[in-house]
Amino acid sequence: MAASRVGLWIIGARGGVAVTAIAGLVAQRLGLVDATGLTTALPPLCDLPLPAWGDFRVGGHDIRQAPLADELARLHRDSRILESQLVDAVAPELAAIDREIRPGILWKVGPRIEELADAPGQQPSTATAAIEQIQADLNAFIQRNELETAVVVNAASTEALPPEDTWPATAAELAEQIAASDCPLPASTLYAAAALDLGLPYVNFTPSLGALPRGVDELARQRGTCYAGRDGKTGETLMKSVLAPMFAARNLQVMSWVGHNIFGNLDGRVLDDPANKATKLKSKDALLGEILGYAPQTHISIEHIASLGDWKTAWDHIHFRGFLGVPMTLQFTWQGCDSALAAPLLLDLARLAIHARRRGEAGALTFLASFFKSPAGDAPQGFGDQLRLLHQWALGAK
Ligand SMILES: NC(=O)c1ccc[n+]([C@@H]2O[C@H](COP(=O)([O-])OP(=O)(O)OC[C@H]3O[C@@H](n4cnc5c(N)ncnc54)[C@H](O)[C@@H]3O)[C@@H](O)[C@H]2O)c1
Repeated sequence: MAASRVGLWIIGARGGVAVTAIAGLVAQRLGLVDATGLTTALPPLCDLPLPAWGDFRVGGHDIRQAPLADELARLHRDSRILESQLVDAVAPELAAIDREIRPGILWKVGPRIEELADAPGQQPSTATAAIEQIQADLNAFIQRNELETAVVVNAASTEALPPEDTWPATAAELAEQIAASDCPLPASTLYAAAALDLGLPYVNFTPSLGALPRGVDELARQRGTCYAGRDGKTGETLMKSVLAPMFAARNLQVMSWVGHNIFGNLDGRVLDDPANKATKLKSKDALLGEILGYAPQTHISIEHIASLGDWKTAWDHIHFRGFLGVPMTLQFTWQGCDSALAAPLLLDLARLAIHARRRGEAGALTFLASFFKSPAGDAPQGFGDQLRLLHQWALGAK
């Protein structure tokens, strides 16, 4: 076994975030791009013995079959991501990674996600069969590539959240639910349970349920492994977690915060379904009340505008009250390339989760809160506090 070789297994491996992350990983390995956007390139994280880009082998699950090179070409054509030379330079490695991508599973994902599927054999007869399939794929990947370990990152489409009273509170309840013929847990939680049960670290880059139930946390601790999530914090919510602490610190009262988001990629198409959109809205809205200590009136909209492709625009209107009750307004416009913002975070998270696993950390990795809209564990929501937590961990984790 090559001690330093590790795996990056991406659920949703053919999606926009995953393909950009894979292309970025290959480009880093080939020395074709600088480290802009990667926080693990900065101190104190760059002082840690994190896996090098060349140490990673990549595989994953997806319910679609389009080759990675075609997906990257589509992002390049429709959304102007990456220079043509870079697309050509990484293409040969993408073909090899394609062979490591297995059909994903469809279990309680809802009709909008089911519509996307074109890979065969994704409807397992039971949740137990789904877990066995996922674990067989992960074990084969690890053995074939002689890996020390692998991090499993969920970058699949956002599922609708199941009702909270169905979330398992203990590992025993989780096992019972998985064994039941009508297991209510969605695919994201089956992937999480399958990975953690094998002792692998798991990162949920999406707002889907994943490792959120307490029963999954207990399973992770029992197996001595760790997890992080949920929902990568890349744009509008990143701005909220930076700006809201400023209003709080200056004793300015936020009366209302309105955010309108428009974008046109596949994720946007899935989020156009009200059930899937509700999961995302909840994740984007949770932090303000926690940071401010009161709940201002909020409104968030997310609309799919196909012509925009991977480019997202967020308009935010913040109405606040200052000294002597004077009302004032802050407005901002964020125009970001969704996949180019998300991909480096996914790569940073993969390196940091593997380092935490090597250090024997178990349960929720709260020090990764700055990466997420809905951080796992008991973590602060303000960006400054979250960065301090990350840096404190890094200083103790050399
Ligand atoms: N782009 C960002 O800035 C950003 C930020 C935070 C969170 N996210 C989240 O990351 C996820 C991925 O975003 P994206 O833009 O790449 O979306 P995408 O639609 O381009 O990709 C999702 C991929 O997941 C696959 N998939 C769906 N269900 C699956 C299943 N059960 N098993 C295996 N594969 C499955 C789809 O076929 C698709 O290839 C979404 O949940 C999104 O909300 C994205």
